[in-house]
Amino acid sequence: MKKKFTRNSAAFIGAALLMSVCSINVNAQTAAETAKMNAYVTGLMKKMTVDEKIGQLNLVTGGMAITGSVTNNGIGDGVKNGTIGGIFGLYGVAEVRKMQEAAVKGSRLHIPLIFGLDVIHGHRTIFPIPLGMSATWDLDLIKQSARIAAKEATAEGLNWVFSPMVDIARDARWGRISEGSGEDPYLGGRIAAAMVHGYQGTSLKNADAVMACVKHFALYGAAEAGREYNTVDMSRLAMYNYYLPPYKAAVDAGVGSIMSSFNVVDGVPSTVNKWLLTDLLRKQWGFKGFVVSDYTSLNEVTNHGLGDLKTVSSRAINAGLDMDMVGEGYLKTLKKSLQEKKVSMADIDRACRLILEAKYKLGLFDNPYKSLDAAREKSDIMTVANRVAARSAAEHSFVLLKNDDQILPLKKTGGSIALVGPLANNKRDMLGTWVIGGEWEKSVSVMEGIERVVGDKVKINYAKGSNITDDTTFIKRLNFGPGMVSLDKESPEDMIEDAVKAAKRSDIIVAVVGESQSMSGESSSRSDISIPESQQKMLRELKKLHKPMVLVLFNGRPLTLQWENDNATAILDVWAPGTEAGNAIANVLFGNYNPSGKLTTTFPRSVGQIPLYYNHLNTGRPYTTGPTKFKSNYLDIDNSPLYPFGYGLSYTKFQYSNLKLSKTNLKGNETLTATITVANTGNYTGEETVQLYIGDPEASISRPVKELKDFKKITLQVGQKKDVSFTITPDKLKFFNSNLKYDWEPGKFIIEVGTNSEITESATVNWMK
Ligand code: BGC
Repeated sequence: MKKKFTRNSAAFIGAALLMSVCSINVNAQTAAETAKMNAYVTGLMKKMTVDEKIGQLNLVTGGMAITGSVTNNGIGDGVKNGTIGGIFGLYGVAEVRKMQEAAVKGSRLHIPLIFGLDVIHGHRTIFPIPLGMSATWDLDLIKQSARIAAKEATAEGLNWVFSPMVDIARDARWGRISEGSGEDPYLGGRIAAAMVHGYQGTSLKNADAVMACVKHFALYGAAEAGREYNTVDMSRLAMYNYYLPPYKAAVDAGVGSIMSSFNVVDGVPSTVNKWLLTDLLRKQWGFKGFVVSDYTSLNEVTNHGLGDLKTVSSRAINAGLDMDMVGEGYLKTLKKSLQEKKVSMADIDRACRLILEAKYKLGLFDNPYKSLDAAREKSDIMTVANRVAARSAAEHSFVLLKNDDQILPLKKTGGSIALVGPLANNKRDMLGTWVIGGEWEKSVSVMEGIERVVGDKVKINYAKGSNITDDTTFIKRLNFGPGMVSLDKESPEDMIEDAVKAAKRSDIIVAVVGESQSMSGESSSRSDISIPESQQKMLRELKKLHKPMVLVLFNGRPLTLQWENDNATAILDVWAPGTEAGNAIANVLFGNYNPSGKLTTTFPRSVGQIPLYYNHLNTGRPYTTGPTKFKSNYLDIDNSPLYPFGYGLSYTKFQYSNLKLSKTNLKGNETLTATITVANTGNYTGEETVQLYIGDPEASISRPVKELKDFKKITLQVGQKKDVSFTITPDKLKFFNSNLKYDWEPGKFIIEVGTNSEITESATVNWMK
């Protein structure tokens, strides 16, 4: 019997209410509104002392989320004295109300505070990590996840979130690759806009809207050697063409704030980089919101070698940094610098005005308590609908990397499964990296999910099989929080033995392996990105049994999986799926949902290939097959990735044929239509992401071999065929040339359409001006 897969409709309740994704600014003010705001803020600023103005620029941490090594004291007094503009890391209606009342009733000018938090992939109901969310290629779903996060965050009194993180990353060693949308600027930009729209909603004044904060501006994902907080050095061409577009997309979508990054940009730390924060961001892009530093990133400019706190603080305010996170550099030094004429009142006024404007846009002057509703705090968090949405998002995020013999989906009745691995009966590691409000105890383990789906109809033989890692030095580094990773009481040998025994009694092995929560995310770079040795040993022993072996892989980054690819029967990449992990995984393993995720980041074969990304330049001696001396390649490994960008299998099969172009010779602003036929020739209904790439082999600068320019997600029933068309205008051919002019150049273009960045059909057009 043919199986049917349908998108879980309950998860999309509300989606219809959301505006469809586009990069327009849905929060844009009318001229009249702006004039009203300006008058209000000007009036208020007239009453403010210099100290009060500087106070608005000071962001402190409330202690519920310490994400750096420095914290703040005396917050209550600071709020009353007007030396604090906002608090982050404090939530809960009662706690927030206390502070807001202290500001509104207790301070001289009654200016409300903003309350921020790292709400990155959900607040209480945790969604997949952003890298997983991006693998859905589903902008409505991504937007919906941000909307739900905003509702939950506001229900606990928050009105500002430090998201989306849109740093392009080409280096899987960097732990924060997990927090972004992968390596592609176009997809990254679409996702950035979707998230901003989701968070900010139709009006920032709504009680369930939060102001978004796009980060980390800029280029943070290009840290040398993938080492956290490391130097970035990049040409302007690479910045403009590959790294900056997602930040720009967030600005165009109306993001209210932006966070500077820890790294240098062109030799100058972002936090004090005038070119970046003023010339590019405000003058070229027209950004109207405020810029906040990263956690003590202003103080750290001293370590970059630019002078003491007073010097770097005055440089920062001149450069366009408006708010100082945690480090109190502004608070402690700006007044003195003003007296010494190192900074101007105009710069302090600018920064103060932008913070007050943000509060005004959020409607906090009208009602500082707008989201402080104890009833909502109870009713709007971790609701059934939110969990259903998180489950559906997780199902859509999984990427089927391999499925030999159509071993997946597994049968729901009969037979036996050995469920092994340190992540199989584990709640601790289901949520992923940024989960300050997330409660891991409430997450669903893989074992629980499987039991829910198959009950006692399939015999499950469980064994842990191995520790996450046996390396005690590594464990110490992973345990920045209490009890994150620990060694089992049983010896590693005995654990493997248990797994082997369980496997001997079973028809199929399902090994749930990979990275624990703290192996990716901030300050979690790795030089070896394989599955830890303890788990590999277990897999090698299991392999000796010659039974079908399915890997369920947890990972916050691409891993090197050559052995696993060669030896496992199937691999399902589940990233870190969030609260509903086990339910989503079981639904996919047993065929209640047919996987449709596609990689947004290239998986290398070896760490030595990094950086490896699909939109690379050709080089003068491109690698070809055959004798390879004097070509751009390695002696010891192929150039190709293990799994390319855009890759992901389905339980069904999609056949692409008959790429047709409406024209092959075009001129000026004509429109080209590329159409391809996609047929479902397998046995299951499935979703496919059809991808459009364009290559530009005749240009004034060397251009990538191909670039993603569009994509469409379609659902095909068994036996169904669809023509999928893309409309291509010269806009899709544009790039920044050597003069940083954004334009297209006439000549030949290669149009490719396919199932991933490597497997496409292609045709050539000539497009003249
Ligand atoms: C991170 C930011 C985060 C901030 C506040 C920093 O260490 O880089 O992404 O928003 O802490 O938690």
